Amino acid sequence: MRILGIETTCDETAASVVECADTAQLHVVSSIVSSQVALHAPWGGVVPNLAAREHTKNLVPVIHTALSNAGCAAHTLDAIAVANRPGLIPALLAGTAAAKSLAYAWHLPLIAVHHIEGHIYANWIDHAAEIAFPIVALVVSGGHTQLIVMRRHCDYTIIGQTRDDAVGESFDKVARLLGLGYPGGPAIMKRADSDAPEDAPVVHLPRPMAELSHYDFSFSGLKTAVLYAIKKFRAAQHLSENAPLPEAFGTAVAREFQAAVIDVLTAKTLHAARAHHAATIILAGGVSANTALRDALFHAAATHLPRVRCVCPSLPYCGDNAAMIAVAAYYRLTHSPDRAAYVDGWRTVTAVARDSIEKASLS
Ligand code: KG4
Ligand code: ZN
Repeated sequence: MRILGIETTCDETAASVVECADTAQLHVVSSIVSSQVALHAPWGGVVPNLAAREHTKNLVPVIHTALSNAGCAAHTLDAIAVANRPGLIPALLAGTAAAKSLAYAWHLPLIAVHHIEGHIYANWIDHAAEIAFPIVALVVSGGHTQLIVMRRHCDYTIIGQTRDDAVGESFDKVARLLGLGYPGGPAIMKRADSDAPEDAPVVHLPRPMAELSHYDFSFSGLKTAVLYAIKKFRAAQHLSENAPLPEAFGTAVAREFQAAVIDVLTAKTLHAARAHHAATIILAGGVSANTALRDALFHAAATHLPRVRCVCPSLPYCGDNAAMIAVAAYYRLTHSPDRAAYVDGWRTVTAVARDSIEKASLS
């Protein structure tokens, strides 16, 4: 089965052709991601209407390149998959309109995929043979921080989530406070990885909601703690409000912030895996590209739950991409109670700004 995936939920225009022979054999034949990071960087975040304008401009060349790189003509496709929720409405409308037009013109089924479902299924691209149920998935992206239990394919129960900021969002906000630019996640990781001088200042930050009596998270207080640490440092050093922060201090804050986030995420994920008798722990979403988080989770799982397999996506499939959307659609097609619904997808699929992944269990 050959599926064309399309992704435009935020600021990446992506298309991919994936071939799926059976559940353990997935082959990404092409994967094109056109990033808009440079366009949005001056605003310090994604501007929805600018994103939509770029998607509209880029969709046809990106889809065309994905098909031609795959050496694939439209009549050899079996289905189209599109991320239709959740996301920025102007951006989602561009992607769903393109997918619906192609599904209608090429007489193909159209499968709507929840963006977070796509991030979770990115793990199957390289690890399908290793993954067994039950699964505890830690989803960490710019808009989501969730612990999800999966007992079978396309079945999701949220057992915990952030009560305020998402992890990626807090990386972005703290990077802005430190003057490290946008997107903040990779910038903080790089800074935290850099060598600290001998006389580097010591910074202590809280581990918010670290208690294991529930699986919810909170990261906005951590960002405020960083803000106060910066204010205190500036006052002590007689630095003005806008003076750039010394590199050693920025490095100390980046390290401690990243460590605080990782401590909480790792402890709660392991606790959830134990309580739900997980066979596999899955890491998913843009923040899964963070090497320190990957290492900490793998190390903690190997030490405390040696029988639980821990997987995370290969780096090209951590951030937003369309291969993960095509792969999720494959499992949806092969495990859905109502495959007939997809035949008329060009008529029924709509863009939805906010939607819980739990609802995807029912479709
Ligand atoms: O999944 P994603 O690409 O888009 C959303 O669905 O939101 O996630 C983007 C988020 C951004 O907040 C970005 O700063 C963060 O992922 N991110 C990282 C890293 N790479 C991307 N955060 C921490 N460390 C990284 N290496
Ligand atoms: Zn994403």
